[in-house]
Amino acid sequence: MNSRFLEACYGEETDAVPIWLMRQAGRYMAEYRELRQHHGILDIIKTPELAKEVTLQPINAFDLDAGIIFADILPPLEAMGLDLEFVSGVGPVIHNPVRTVEDAEQLQVPDPQDGLGFTIKAVEITAKELAKRDIPLIGFSGAPFTLAYYAIEGQASQNKLGVKAAMHAEPELWDILMNKLATLQGNYLKAQAEAGAQVLQVFDSWAGILSPYDYREYVKPYTQKVVKIAKQADVPVIHFGTTTSAMLPEMKDAGGDIIGVDWRIDIDKAADILGDDVIIQGNLDPAVLLAPWEEIEKQTKYILDKMRDRPGYIFNLGHGIHRSTPPEQVRKLATFVHEYTKK
Ligand code: CP3
Repeated sequence: MNSRFLEACYGEETDAVPIWLMRQAGRYMAEYRELRQHHGILDIIKTPELAKEVTLQPINAFDLDAGIIFADILPPLEAMGLDLEFVSGVGPVIHNPVRTVEDAEQLQVPDPQDGLGFTIKAVEITAKELAKRDIPLIGFSGAPFTLAYYAIEGQASQNKLGVKAAMHAEPELWDILMNKLATLQGNYLKAQAEAGAQVLQVFDSWAGILSPYDYREYVKPYTQKVVKIAKQADVPVIHFGTTTSAMLPEMKDAGGDIIGVDWRIDIDKAADILGDDVIIQGNLDPAVLLAPWEEIEKQTKYILDKMRDRPGYIFNLGHGIHRSTPPEQVRKLATFVHEYTKK
């Protein structure tokens, strides 16, 4: 496959900087909102043809260099036996959160083909379609900590004390839960690669609520396990977190060929901290896409200029795109990144 995104993932020179956007398929697109009138998000995820259609929406509309399979990080919790619902206006809710050692012991670790076969199938048919256009497909999963957060708290929480209490005071619960999550997520990623995903991304969106000490002690070994299993499929792995500027070396140590960085650190500073032996992805604040084009262009140039001489930089946002983003700005951004960095 002739793909500048894949070349960048392998640290090779590219003809221009590649770009894709986290949550590039979703509610900021009219095509997605139209489909959501008729289907719930879990319906779309569990129907491979629909997941494929949504994955292709941003690829058809914009000059992006990679697709990311339309799924979510949370269905694996359902496959383990938790009761997941996306509640309108609230977000994801787990109705039977993990609170005791017995709860953790009862969780299943299914074969990904059994519990998550719909996404594996979606990867297979979507990767086939994208390959015709020389566009690689990214498979993904949540990292054990971010999933443990939802499994224990039950839903987005203000103070995040539940997950930290379990981590600090319930070592048995924590180890059982994190080990099961790591095994399932590792196998799930590997299965996506075997079904055709050329690159994998691990989302640890909540890791930034931890001190580097807690990350090192209670989280890193499990993420290491995920990456180790996923790497058996021999594809590049992107490791992404938010509010993780203070623990980039720890994240690098946890694993990943590419490290995703949010916008809370200058990209050249992140590059200095991470060193030359990993690829870097990300950095534009998603809120900037709501600004006038001149501001978007200024901040995009700021990032691209700093990364100009570094092979293997992948342009992306520092976190998922906001639902109020004008699609026209995404179109302009993708074209601009390519034109501005063309060799
Ligand atoms: O990037 C992509 O285009 C692929 C699709 C994708 C979704 N979720 C679809 C989705 C990906 C990569 C995710 C990851 C995800 N899901 C994360 C990690 C990344 C991040 O943003 O931090 C997290 C924490 C989740 C959990 C999740 N899923 C939440 C908190 C919500 C509700 C948020 C909201 O805005 O309603 C979701 C729902 C969700 N997942 C939507 C999409 C497009 C919106 C659902 C809808 O259509 O109503």
